[in-house]
Amino acid sequence: TDPTQIKKGLAGVVADYTAISKVNPETNSLLYRGYPVQELAATQPFEAVAYLLWNGELPDATQLAELRAAERANRALPDDVKAAIDLVPVDAHPMDEVRTALSLYGARDLAGIGSVLDASGTPAENLDRSIRLFAVLPAIVAYGQRRRRGEDLVEPREDLDYAANFLWMTFGEEADDVVVDAFNRSMILYAEHSFNASTFTARVVTSTLSDLYSAVVAAVGALKGPLHGGANEAVLHVFDEIGSADNVAPWLDEALASKRKIMGFGHRVYKRGDSRVPTMKAALDSLVAHYDRPDVAALYDALESEFVSRKGIYPNLDYPSGPAYQLIGFDTPTFTPLFVAARVTGWTAHIMEQLSANALIRPLSAYSGPDERHIDGYVPDTAAIDIAERP
Ligand code: CMC
Repeated sequence: TDPTQIKKGLAGVVADYTAISKVNPETNSLLYRGYPVQELAATQPFEAVAYLLWNGELPDATQLAELRAAERANRALPDDVKAAIDLVPVDAHPMDEVRTALSLYGARDLAGIGSVLDASGTPAENLDRSIRLFAVLPAIVAYGQRRRRGEDLVEPREDLDYAANFLWMTFGEEADDVVVDAFNRSMILYAEHSFNASTFTARVVTSTLSDLYSAVVAAVGALKGPLHGGANEAVLHVFDEIGSADNVAPWLDEALASKRKIMGFGHRVYKRGDSRVPTMKAALDSLVAHYDRPDVAALYDALESEFVSRKGIYPNLDYPSGPAYQLIGFDTPTFTPLFVAARVTGWTAHIMEQLSANALIRPLSAYSGPDERHIDGYVPDTAAIDIAERP
């Protein structure tokens, strides 16, 4: 427990192997199972990328058809999970709603498994649980946004693929191809990113041989924070505050003078730009053209160039995805739940990988409290407290 060994925030610590993704900040690249994420986003449906993350290879036509069939069969929101969502206050944060819904979903799935010794599951059981979580999350997220708008649940459509069905269940109408494509790309870009805070959280929970659902619920909690997944929502609050491109410079003067962190910029790993940004920016550009919103692009470009030139800190994925989700029609608080729907693929791939070569994750700490002392002679002053009134 030598304090000089402390790596605050575990920065620079290599905690384990992973075969799922490779982040290379030097070359500004991100590979999922060896494939550059830009290539996957440009060519694949999200279902195929989910398959890749879980199984290590892209699916052939039969394997993709099987996964799609399993996904479609598990899209509907179970009545009791819907009832649980309805119990969550409508003005609670949607991430609390997602966390609650997933917790119940897991409890009903594991009902009957009485012993903690049996909960961690076989590889086949965990793959099945992963597919079902992947399949049901769009219903949870879409219904959440709808009920906040006072709208009813929309049932899934068997004839639509994952991305198109997600938009259908959210908005109750079929989205245009350009919108489906941009949304599909965002899901792929958000799917996986090695040992980020929420994935590491899932691996810590899994390392105790707890169950997959407990690990995912814990990961949702980690993702909620604005230093991690909450940033895509926070970017929109920044855009709303600034208002328009011509207000960027004075707004930034004040924000930097008060030492504010500008959401959507900076990254623990990428110090020279986030490899996912150009692909998501291209998707945002297609949405800007589709919805004819050059004002959004102007504000985006103005804040980026002003901030990069002043601080040399580059945008991360949340910077283009926030405005993209807003243009598609998602309400700002729904953005981080969208991240959950995407990242559940990476989380579950890591949970299965952790179980395949498990070691309990249990670091050390350097103690900074009082020196050893003893209770001899210490008498609490309880005389003044009426015992009957104690809780
Ligand atoms: N705005 C203003 N200053 C910043 C920012 C920012 N967004 N990011 C870093 N800095 C400054 C920071 O103030 C510090 O300056 P100084 O050395 O003068 O104190 C320096 O850059 C190093 O920052 P750090 O916070 O020590 O670096 P980190 O590696 O711990 O932080 C980060 C990474 C993502 C937490 C941070 O950049 C940040 O808070 N960004 C805003 C939140 C955000 O966009 N998060 C999404 C991350 S990517 C998606 C995801 O993983 O979910």
